[in-house]
Amino acid sequence: MDSTEEGDRGAAGISVDELHKFFENQALQTRKLRRFLYRKVGLTRQRKVLDAGCGTGVITSELSEAAGGAVVGVDRKNELIEFAMRSFPGVDFITADCGSLPFQSDSFDLVVSHFFLMWADNPHEVTREFFRILKPGGIFVACAEPDYGGRVEHPENPEFSDALRSSLEVKGADTRIGRKLGSILEAAGLGSEVGISSNLIAGGELLREYEANRLLYKHDLRAVLDKTSTDRILRIERAQIERGKILTVPIFWAVGRKPV
Ligand SMILES: C[S@@+](CC[C@H](N)C(=O)[O-])C[C@H]1O[C@@H](n2cnc3c(N)ncnc32)[C@H](O)[C@@H]1O
Repeated sequence: MDSTEEGDRGAAGISVDELHKFFENQALQTRKLRRFLYRKVGLTRQRKVLDAGCGTGVITSELSEAAGGAVVGVDRKNELIEFAMRSFPGVDFITADCGSLPFQSDSFDLVVSHFFLMWADNPHEVTREFFRILKPGGIFVACAEPDYGGRVEHPENPEFSDALRSSLEVKGADTRIGRKLGSILEAAGLGSEVGISSNLIAGGELLREYEANRLLYKHDLRAVLDKTSTDRILRIERAQIERGKILTVPIFWAVGRKPV
């Protein structure tokens, strides 16, 4: 399981199309968790829904099929919003920063995010903004935020896991956002329920995930390692996977409600 911030990579040679494939693959990994959370927040009854930090619109399009009303996806990266508009023509998207949303206070029933808070420069600020735009009784659900501090693997490849974490941090990610979710929602006034989903990935599934992410790993690792080291630790990782490696990274979720 990995997560990516697209802007830097886009600029440095990873196409938006490749990022979209990455986001689709990432969404596959959390499909069951989202189904559980959508039921929990009554998605089919929600009439005005925001997908915060929507990227290329993978989750927005899913929400627009399942929600009981209008869905809008918001991302600060215009090239991703343009891609989303082309890919999902029936869905509403706008380019905006979630720290300062162009929406009236008390106007949304549900705000959804997926692998977003780890990339927000100020997760407290955006969560306070979600509180502002939610109607009294409205819900914020942070569907999936990883915590790399809880990564467990066997056999270990610390050079790879440390470099991957560092490369995400260099790009601005909070790789320990998972454990902070509850306190962030509480601080914004959204009393919260927090949970963890922990997939054990192994065998063919881990190999598929490795292959799907290899280009991005390679690209990310080059931000903190030279080419020889990058190639070497990726070779070690692949060999470990072929010999039956197991891996899990905890994915936290949180649901908060604005008081009536
Ligand atoms: C890892 S991507 C996730 C995309 C999408 N939620 C998904 O799961 O496919 C994180 C997204 O958050 C966006 N983002 C980060 N900070 C933001 C902010 N303050 N306002 C709007 N979008 C933001 C990034 O541009 C990026 O597209």
